[in-house]
Amino acid sequence: MELVETIVGARDRTRDLLRRGSVGFVPTMGALHAGHMSLVAASRKNCRATAVSIFVNPLQFGPSEDLQRYPRTIDADLGLLRDAGVDFVFAPSVDEMERAANGTFVEPGPVARRWEGERRPGHFRGVATVVLKLLQIIPATDAYFGQKDFQQWRVVQTMVEDLQVPVQLHMGPTVRESDGLAMSSRNRYLSPSDRSKALGLSRALANARQASQRGVCATEQLEQILRETLAEHRVDAIDYAVVVDRSDLEPLIQVDRPAVMLLAARVGTTRLLDNGLLPQHAEVGHEH
Ligand code: PAF
Repeated sequence: MELVETIVGARDRTRDLLRRGSVGFVPTMGALHAGHMSLVAASRKNCRATAVSIFVNPLQFGPSEDLQRYPRTIDADLGLLRDAGVDFVFAPSVDEMERAANGTFVEPGPVARRWEGERRPGHFRGVATVVLKLLQIIPATDAYFGQKDFQQWRVVQTMVEDLQVPVQLHMGPTVRESDGLAMSSRNRYLSPSDRSKALGLSRALANARQASQRGVCATEQLEQILRETLAEHRVDAIDYAVVVDRSDLEPLIQVDRPAVMLLAARVGTTRLLDNGLLPQHAEVGHEH
């Protein structure tokens, strides 16, 4: 496995690999866990070669967010990626990525407006800008993103569609700890007591999903189940707990189309996100 630190080097390496067939790309901010590694495994399975980037992107952090303390574990990350059979890792410095940055950004559309977009102004602009730039540097045939950040997934999907970026996107399912906690690089901030509160997120999704399977299709009722379960687990603050249209992420009255439950809650000093897909309700229109 090669470690590439320059933009020119990453572009050359990708071009070499493309001559031999498909190239899968997994963009990351490092601090890798089983969630990232499942995306790497999916790319390894589907594509002839696999590239991974490790770059903690300053553009997507707000002024009061955790850019400085974001975990950086490059040696361990490179070990995991080498063992997984990755062809090359692009790990540029901030200087390398920002040398050519004169104020051009990708401004995502309405799908970025609510939820994380509202709470983290500029976050998705930073994500969309760096993802497009990474896809220019590593013009892979395929790129892999986790479901864990579902709104990010929709922002990237919409950008790729709107700007006609020639890449096939894939969404990998959220990987969970054995107790249900969604894997996240930020989980390492959780104290043991935070950890048990954090389980509220996956339990809330499970309870609402069960209710939906029992026939509840009013989003107000499902959202109440989400909030009650989070409160039972004593999360410190609920940012949002909503059931929305899976495509435009707009609020729904009923689950009368494919939907997604989106959760953001604070536990201690850590903000946690989770989500769960809900199929269109089979019996919508009937009284429940
Ligand atoms: O999901 C992440 O790790 C980041 O937002 C990404 C996609 C690598 C862009 O910096």
